[in-house]
Amino acid sequence: MARPYIITISSEKGGVGKTTLATNLAIYLKNLAGDLPVTLFSFDNHFTVDRMFLSAHQNTRHHVGELFSGVDAAELVCRGEHDVQIIPSYADLHSLRSTLSGNNQLAEQLGRSNLQGLVIIDTSPVLNAYTRNALFAADRVIVPVKDAPSLQNCKNLSRFFTEQSLPRHTLRLLPCLIDTRIRYKGPFRDPYQLLKAYAINRGFRCMEGYIAKSPKVESLNTNPEGRVYPIMTHGKATDVHLQFMHLARQVYLDYLESGPSRIGKIASEHSEHVFRERQELNHRKQRLSQHCLCCVKPVPGTGPWSGSFYLESTDGGRAGFIEDDCLIELIFESFYGQHKSLAAQESMRDLFRESASRSFFILEQVATADAGSSRVDFLRLDETGAELSRKDLELNGGGYGLLRRSKHPLQDFFDRLFEAELENGSRTLLLRRTGDDPMAILEGTAYARWQTILSRILVERSEPQALAVDS
Ligand SMILES: Nc1ncnc2c1ncn2[C@@H]1O[C@H](COP(=O)(O)OP(=O)(O)OP(=O)(O)O)[C@@H](O)[C@H]1O
Ligand SMILES: [Mg+2]
Repeated sequence: MARPYIITISSEKGGVGKTTLATNLAIYLKNLAGDLPVTLFSFDNHFTVDRMFLSAHQNTRHHVGELFSGVDAAELVCRGEHDVQIIPSYADLHSLRSTLSGNNQLAEQLGRSNLQGLVIIDTSPVLNAYTRNALFAADRVIVPVKDAPSLQNCKNLSRFFTEQSLPRHTLRLLPCLIDTRIRYKGPFRDPYQLLKAYAINRGFRCMEGYIAKSPKVESLNTNPEGRVYPIMTHGKATDVHLQFMHLARQVYLDYLESGPSRIGKIASEHSEHVFRERQELNHRKQRLSQHCLCCVKPVPGTGPWSGSFYLESTDGGRAGFIEDDCLIELIFESFYGQHKSLAAQESMRDLFRESASRSFFILEQVATADAGSSRVDFLRLDETGAELSRKDLELNGGGYGLLRRSKHPLQDFFDRLFEAELENGSRTLLLRRTGDDPMAILEGTAYARWQTILSRILVERSEPQALAVDS
């Protein structure tokens, strides 16, 4: 399906002719390419678009605010005059602003929609979330400039393009509201020549030509009927009419010559990303141990678990879940149990369970100087990976229990999880308590956070002197 070509009209300067440009360009483009659907909407709340294209009694159930609600944009349009499709404006748009979470939402929404042809977006003179979304989605951004200050304001737009790595060639300045009576001495004979030279000098490209200031055009939105009349029908005798015809031809040619539209590219990048994410998720699920890493219970979701911790070894060898009780037993036996009463131990376990969901844990076995001996560190980290507390335990090589015949449970645990013997180095596990849906830790942002902590640990482990034992 061909995705629409987006033309955004934007300038941080008010009153430079953005809305006049957006509304009239829609009509001239529709006139030029009758078969092509042309859709127009405004993120400004002056309602000029509505006054120009919709009759007073037209039923308008939808509005531009819904563009971010997940509804197909094609369902929001209504048929306007001059055969232009309109998404009605919305007075309370600013109240919805908090629902916008990024600059790419509009692009993704339009990419998923059934809208086709050309889409023209009028923006407000503020680089707010709506304007940023309209810029992000655009194949062509036309920036009206009427004087030196409005040209000066382009630097914020330019910075936004750089920050977002947007293709700068989509930006085109258009001198507007040019007073053609003014003449200068010297190489730049009039305001148009001067503005164009300023623009080029600052590294901007310009559309060909300009839009002149015309009293007739200015009068088209002030009349007893409260309508806004198009230049094509009510300003045909003006130069501005010819200038708009020329502009529409340029935009139409650009559209014809452009390859896949920007939102088409964004949509295919998005689906590639989703595909890759799904593959990685499958891979993570496939390498999970089918049982609790301590006992024989099958993975959570397939049997009764009291809760679980997710665990990965930093060498990438093992990944899986441990039932709460198994891990708590192992930890408390080893690090906390010895000197406390049963009641105190029980309340510590409850506290540990409750607070564990806000932490990451590291369990690490480090070889010590004595042959066959090691130290096990148990660290609690906060959500950012910063160390909150640390306990350690010496493991003698000689055995454990009354008869000193069995291995220490921690030694046994490490031996079962790691193929490689602990020789001179260390063996490290990262753990996190899972929620009601244990598998959710393997998905999207939850796993991205896990990976961030994991890579931080790997970096720190490659500089072991950076960590000091404080217990
Ligand atoms: N070519 C023109 N000749 C004369 N007046 C014009 C022309 N184009 C626009 N105007 C007038 O200039 C004023 C500002 O135009 P417009 O509303 O299109 O600017 P804008 O950039 O959208 O403003 P805002 O930033 O407030 O949304 C309006 O009164 C409009 O009628
Ligand atoms: Mg406007």
